Amino acid sequence: MKPYTTMINTETGFLERAQNHLERKLSSMKGQYLDTETYEVLLKNEDSLVYEVYENIEMPKKPGELYHGSSIVHPGKVGAEYFMTKGHFHQVLETAEVYYCLHGNGYMMMETPEGEWAAEELTLGIVLYVPPCWAHRSINVGGSDLVTFFVYPGDAGHDYGTIEVKGFRKLLVEKGGKPTVIDNPRWVGK
Ligand code: F6R
Ligand code: ZN
Repeated sequence: MKPYTTMINTETGFLERAQNHLERKLSSMKGQYLDTETYEVLLKNEDSLVYEVYENIEMPKKPGELYHGSSIVHPGKVGAEYFMTKGHFHQVLETAEVYYCLHGNGYMMMETPEGEWAAEELTLGIVLYVPPCWAHRSINVGGSDLVTFFVYPGDAGHDYGTIEVKGFRKLLVEKGGKPTVIDNPRWVGK
């Protein structure tokens, strides 16, 4: 690899030189939202775009490399629950990640296998450190796109299965017009 520069549009999250552009629609979020009835109704009406990721993936997946890209969570809700990413642990659990918020308003919901959890606010200029072993999910609580830039180790990999099966311990829902953390009644685990 040669050194390179690239450009991010801080409003749209578009990353030049990205080899990967992922679009996640409502249909790929099955089982993740608490209000399953509303989820089905919304899905029947339209398979909305929930979030997108642009990523540079040309470097080898090995320690020493730094994968990086942008994540764009669009505004919206399923019932009282905000549009969000699927969320994951890293496959190599002991790998961290840094996020830098470029646009919008949201939260990062995080938890460890041992049961610790944290919800950190994301607004323009916020740098968030996700320590090793913490699962993470971005949530858009605003009326415009939530755009973040992220960097993580090349060997980290992604474990989506654990969250798909167990869910996050905590959810972020709108209550009285405000983002509110609640226990996930469907959380499966010990
Ligand atoms: C990479 C990372 C982000 C997310 C992106 C989409 O380790 O945390 O690039 O991949 O925000 O979220 P997921 O991967 O949970 O669908
Ligand atoms: Zn990650």
